[in-house]
Amino acid sequence: MAPTAQPETLTPLLRDRESVMVYDRSHVLGPDTLRAILEAARWSPSAGNSQPWGFIVGLRGDDTHAAMVEVLSSANQVWAPSASAIILTLHQVATDEDHELAYSDYAMFDLGQAVAHITVQARSMGLQVRQFGGFDHGAATERFAVPPHWAVTTGIALGLPAGPDDDGEMPDWVLARARLPRSRLPLEAFVHSGKFGHPADFLTD
Ligand SMILES: Cc1cc2nc3c(=O)[nH]c(=O)nc-3n(C[C@H](O)[C@H](O)[C@H](O)COP(=O)(O)O)c2cc1C
Repeated sequence: MAPTAQPETLTPLLRDRESVMVYDRSHVLGPDTLRAILEAARWSPSAGNSQPWGFIVGLRGDDTHAAMVEVLSSANQVWAPSASAIILTLHQVATDEDHELAYSDYAMFDLGQAVAHITVQARSMGLQVRQFGGFDHGAATERFAVPPHWAVTTGIALGLPAGPDDDGEMPDWVLARARLPRSRLPLEAFVHSGKFGHPADFLTD
């Protein structure tokens, strides 16, 4: 059986992406950088060009960021605030009252793709993100007055990774988790041909 593709085969923007837990606490995200990163989401594809995504942005030190930290899970509260920004993502779950934004069944898919664009744009600028689901979605919905046709979905910590000699003032469990080797299922486990469950021939030749 041919070896599964290694990360080395990927474009460096993807090869060098990882979900970073230890950030440089002195790094400040400038408005131009932030705009460029959010433009990546803006130009992401979506079903019928519905663009069913939303982002609430908190910058370390501002009130939005402080409110976000309050709703994080206790584990995410330890590492996520060290990033320069926390972004909560939203996707549309119903047509809005003014019927200006029609609901699409692919809204969460489109949001995920927009976030993927954000991760790649951030990487191209020397930054990294770690996405997270561990926060109180109800509390975030209330705190940020999210209308009923939108759902708060995930969080994104965005920042400059800490240097090799900077432990980011993190406890040992975070440093240990950050050092865990990354692993993935082999392609044969999820690339099929003929019928579901039959690995594609080009993988096994
Ligand atoms: C939707 C989603 C939710 C996640 N939730 C959390 C989380 O709450 N806390 C956390 O530390 N990491 C979280 N992660 C990060 C994953 O653990 C990480 O992407 C995965 O282990 C693969 O690591 P890699 O991105 O470095 O390849 C989440 C990632 C995604 C995409």
